Amino acid sequence: MKIWSKRLILSATGVTAGWLMSNALTGPAAAQTPAPAAKGAPTQATAAPAAKGPTAGEAFKNVTTASLKVLTVSDFLGAMGVMAAALGYDCADCHPGAGSDKVDWVFDTPKKKTARKMVDMVATINRTNFGGAQMVTCFTCHHGRDLPVTTIALDTLYGPPNEEKRDIIVRGEGQPSADSIIDKYVAAVGGAQKWAGIKSWIATGTSLGYEGLGGGGTFTIAAQAPDKRVTQIQFKDHPERGDSTRAYNGTSGWIKSPRGLVPEYEFTGSELEGMHTDALTSFPNQLKTAFRNWTVGQNDVIGDKEVYVLQGRNQTASGMFYATFYFDTKTNLLVREVRFSASPIGRIPTQMDFSDYRDVQGVKFPFKYQFSWLDGRDQFQISDVKVNVSIDAAKFGKP
Ligand code: HEC
Ligand code: HEC
Repeated sequence: MKIWSKRLILSATGVTAGWLMSNALTGPAAAQTPAPAAKGAPTQATAAPAAKGPTAGEAFKNVTTASLKVLTVSDFLGAMGVMAAALGYDCADCHPGAGSDKVDWVFDTPKKKTARKMVDMVATINRTNFGGAQMVTCFTCHHGRDLPVTTIALDTLYGPPNEEKRDIIVRGEGQPSADSIIDKYVAAVGGAQKWAGIKSWIATGTSLGYEGLGGGGTFTIAAQAPDKRVTQIQFKDHPERGDSTRAYNGTSGWIKSPRGLVPEYEFTGSELEGMHTDALTSFPNQLKTAFRNWTVGQNDVIGDKEVYVLQGRNQTASGMFYATFYFDTKTNLLVREVRFSASPIGRIPTQMDFSDYRDVQGVKFPFKYQFSWLDGRDQFQISDVKVNVSIDAAKFGKP
C-alpha cells in the first residue's frame, strides 16, 4: 500500500520515531530540553527530561490547541504519528523538509492550519455528542487519505465485507472466562509452576526488517521479572546506523535512536504504560494480573486461525490504556497482541505477532516475532533463548 511503502522507506533509511523526536527536540524545543551532545561529550550533558517534563505547549513554540498543548512531549509526538497515519501522510506533508535538517516545525503551512482546526473539531464532536468518550478520531473520517470520501463505491458495496476491527472489544455471548483462556495459554507455554521459576531471559537473533527493507541487524531482548525489559538492535555491517535501544526499568522508559542528534529520549506519559505491559507480559504467568479489567469478545480469525479475543484495560494518568490479546483456539498460544496508548485525536497502536513457538528448558518461547507501530515494522528471528541468566540492572536503565 502507498502509505506503508512511504513509511517503510523512512524506516529503512533510519528515520524512525526516535530520530524524528530527537530532531524535533533539537530545534524549537531546544531551550527546554537538553542540548544535543557531540559524540564523546560527558553524559550529564545529555540527561533526559525529567519523568514529568514540560507540556507540549511549554516545550514547543507554536503548539496551541487545547487538546494537544497539555500533552507530555512524547505523547504529543505520538499524536503527530496518529495524524500522519490517519491521513496517509508523513511528517513532511505538513512540515516541509521533515527528515532533513532544513525542517522548520514551527512554520504554519496551510495543511497544518487545517489540521489544527480539525483537532478542535474532533474535541467538540466527542464532547457534544459522545459525552467526551473517544468515538470520533481523525481516522474515523479520513481512513488513510487526505480528502475523506463521502459515498460508498458500488464495487465496495458488492465486494467482500469490511473486516476492519474495532479498537474497543465488545463482550461476546457465551464465551469462556478471561481467566480460563489465560490459564490455558499459560499451560500451553509450560505451566504456571515452571514460569514461576523463571526470573529472567535473554533472546538473541537477527532483525529481518520488513519486505527487504530495514533489516540486517542483530538484536537482544532481555527481560527480568517482574517488570524490566530492554530491546537492543545493532547493525554490525552498517555502524553508521548506530545501535538502537528501547529500555524500561520498571518505572522509566527510554528510546535511544539510531542516528539521533540527541542520543536518547525519555518516554513520558502514555507510551510508558505500553512499555510496562511489554515488560510484565514477557512472563506469561503475569498476564492475568497485568490488567484490572478484562473483556472477552467474540472469536475472530487471524490468517487461517480461529482466535479467542481478550481485551485488558487499565485507567492511567494519560487516559484509558487498552491491549487486545489473540489466542489460537486450537493450541491456546498467543498469536497477536495489539496495544493502544491514549491520544486525544486517536489511539496509538502497537502490534506484536508471535509464531514458531519452540521449547526452551521446559517452557515455550515464540521464535518469530513481528513488531509494528505507526513508524515502521520489523521482523525478528530468534536463534537462541537463555533463561535465568543474571542481567546487570544497568542494562534496563538509561541507554
Ligand atoms: C496533518 C498535518 C500534520 C502532520 C502529518 C504532522 N504534523 Fe506536526 N503539527 C501539526 C500541527 C497542526 C501542529 C500544531 C499543533 C497545535 O497547535 O496544537 C504541529 C506541530 C508539530 C511540532 C511542534 C512545532 C513547534 O515548535 O511549534 C512538532 C515538533 C511536530 N509537529 C512534529 C511532527 C512530526 C515528527 C510528524 C510526523 C510523525 C508530524 N509533526 C506530522 C500538523 C501535522
Ligand atoms: C468529521 C469528519 C472529519 C474528521 C473527524 C476529521 N476530518 Fe479532516 N477533513 C474532513 C473533510 C470533509 C475534509 C475535506 C474538506 C474539504 O475538502 O474542503 C478534511 C480535510 C482535512 C485536511 C486538508 C487536506 C487537504 O489535502 O486539503 C487536513 C490536513 C485534515 N483534514 C486533518 C485532519 C486531522 C488532523 C484530523 C484529526 C484531528 C481530522 N482531519 C479529522 C473531515 C474530517
